[in-house]
Amino acid sequence: MCGIIGYWNTKKESFKILFESLKKLEYRGYDSFGFATLFNNQLFLTKQTGKVSEAKCEASPGTLGIAHTRWATHGKVNEKNTHPHTDCAGKIAVVHNGIIENFQELKLQLEKNHLFLSETDTEVIPHLIENYLKKGMNLKQAIIKTGTLLKGRNAFVVLNSDTKEIIAFRNGSPLIVGIKKDNGCSEVFIASDIQAFLDKTKNVMYLDDNEIVIVKEIPEFYDVKTGVQIQKRIIKIELDVESAEKGDYSHYMLKEIMEQKKTLTRVINQDSKELMHVAQKINNAKGIFFIGCGTAARVCHTAEYIFSIVANKHVNFVPASEFENYKHFLVPETLVIAISQSGETADVLDALKIAKKRGSKIISIVNTPNSSVTTIADFNFLINAGPEKAVASTKATTAQIVIVMLLAYACAGKLIEGNRILVDVAGKVNDMLNPRYNQHIKNLAKKIYQNQNIFIIGRGINYPMALESAIKIIEVSYIHAQGFAGGELKHGPIAMIEKNTPVIALVANDELKNEIISNAIEVKSRGAYVIGIAPENNEVFDYWIKTPDVSEVVSSIVNLIPIQLLSYYLGTFRGHNVDYPRSLAKSVTVK
Ligand code: AGP
Repeated sequence: MCGIIGYWNTKKESFKILFESLKKLEYRGYDSFGFATLFNNQLFLTKQTGKVSEAKCEASPGTLGIAHTRWATHGKVNEKNTHPHTDCAGKIAVVHNGIIENFQELKLQLEKNHLFLSETDTEVIPHLIENYLKKGMNLKQAIIKTGTLLKGRNAFVVLNSDTKEIIAFRNGSPLIVGIKKDNGCSEVFIASDIQAFLDKTKNVMYLDDNEIVIVKEIPEFYDVKTGVQIQKRIIKIELDVESAEKGDYSHYMLKEIMEQKKTLTRVINQDSKELMHVAQKINNAKGIFFIGCGTAARVCHTAEYIFSIVANKHVNFVPASEFENYKHFLVPETLVIAISQSGETADVLDALKIAKKRGSKIISIVNTPNSSVTTIADFNFLINAGPEKAVASTKATTAQIVIVMLLAYACAGKLIEGNRILVDVAGKVNDMLNPRYNQHIKNLAKKIYQNQNIFIIGRGINYPMALESAIKIIEVSYIHAQGFAGGELKHGPIAMIEKNTPVIALVANDELKNEIISNAIEVKSRGAYVIGIAPENNEVFDYWIKTPDVSEVVSSIVNLIPIQLLSYYLGTFRGHNVDYPRSLAKSVTVK
């Protein structure tokens, strides 16, 4: 959450470049944004509430600058709390991503001699640096001293007007350096995500935890614990700019849903030796835990069903934020499988720390290469879905399910069969995503978008998918939605059903089909408007969305496609910017 950038060069004006780069980080937070540039030894600050992509700003001068797009944690959304924050003398500007868990005690001390202007935790950083500079430290030393005092996951970038330096510190939140050399002009970026500068350079250097970097023509990296300089390699990354752009689509969400035509085929293409190697580890493990948050947690929940059906194997699902309660069951032979699109989710990282401490082995299923989760894990499966920018996860979700299925089939010694089934489903999803299908779902959205409540029911593997459906609908349409196991309805939730309440039944052509249809009949007799997402029509359905006739496990993928589209259209009919739902951010890097 929060996107931060620093930009160094000697010739170009930095503001416009920072402004464009910041727009690319907007998915990380969009409550407010700000800039600090340096000109003639003076800092120029610009701050506004709202989205940078919708803003008009007067450029401030200077070739060095830092910028921030905020997802508010400490302090209301207003200009006062917008980054950059400065020291008392207005010489040190700071942009920050993370939460300083001990900021109250630090602030209490600092307030004796320093004037605080905001309610943020961040503001302690410039004042601490100011203190250490006054004590005779140089900027690098002052930043190391400050950074190591902060508790929690943090990354910050500092611009100092006296020394004309940009220095960044990382411990727990991502920072990547980008380097460009063109016609005698050197440019250096430091940002929370490659996306910020992908259109400028693909040459990057990764900053690791407990490191700082002095951002200059040849960036200098230092270990904050030893103070020793670290040599880093320049890595050329493969991502192309188009994959991170909206193109002709009105929203990233729709683009990313449609991209499943390709992403499913791409993700199946995993190294079978690696799959078999990990499958062997799963088969020999003492306890297997799938952990993740939000939608990724729903994929983990689905893994329980997939492994049970395909490999006759019990695996546990635990939301990453609850994982600490299970630490007593972790031994070195335990396998923890983390699923995360961003690879930066704070609760996942904390859970993995616990697993590491107990000596357990970690496997990751991640979309973002070189993200924090991948550096902790012993083995990584990259889902290769390309950048997912809409806050609502779509293409990453189905790709994650594919990896889980491949692992389950590999565990069962049926990898070739699994591959065949998945290639078949990728083709079927490709057929589903056509304009007529979209229109059919759009028509449904038009009928129900004014409703206050939507319920989704499913049995077996479609139970976690019902839960995921609710997340999707809620986050982009703000309609209250809840998913239930079909059998649970009559134990309480059915009381909520009244005339015309939409109830979506996720149906697969499996043994549970008749039971979920019975549940649909129960709600229909209480007035519900029943929407069937099913391979066959049924008289109980008031509206039918046809899905391909596939096996029970694979129904988890094909049933999600119409739900993703429905959520998208519900959100747009209700007039929301579905890519940037209120109060949410794409990577949840705080606890
Ligand atoms: C998905 O639509 C949500 N925006 C959210 O639940 C997300 O899945 C969750 O925050 C986990 O993110 P991650 O996959 O990057 O770890």
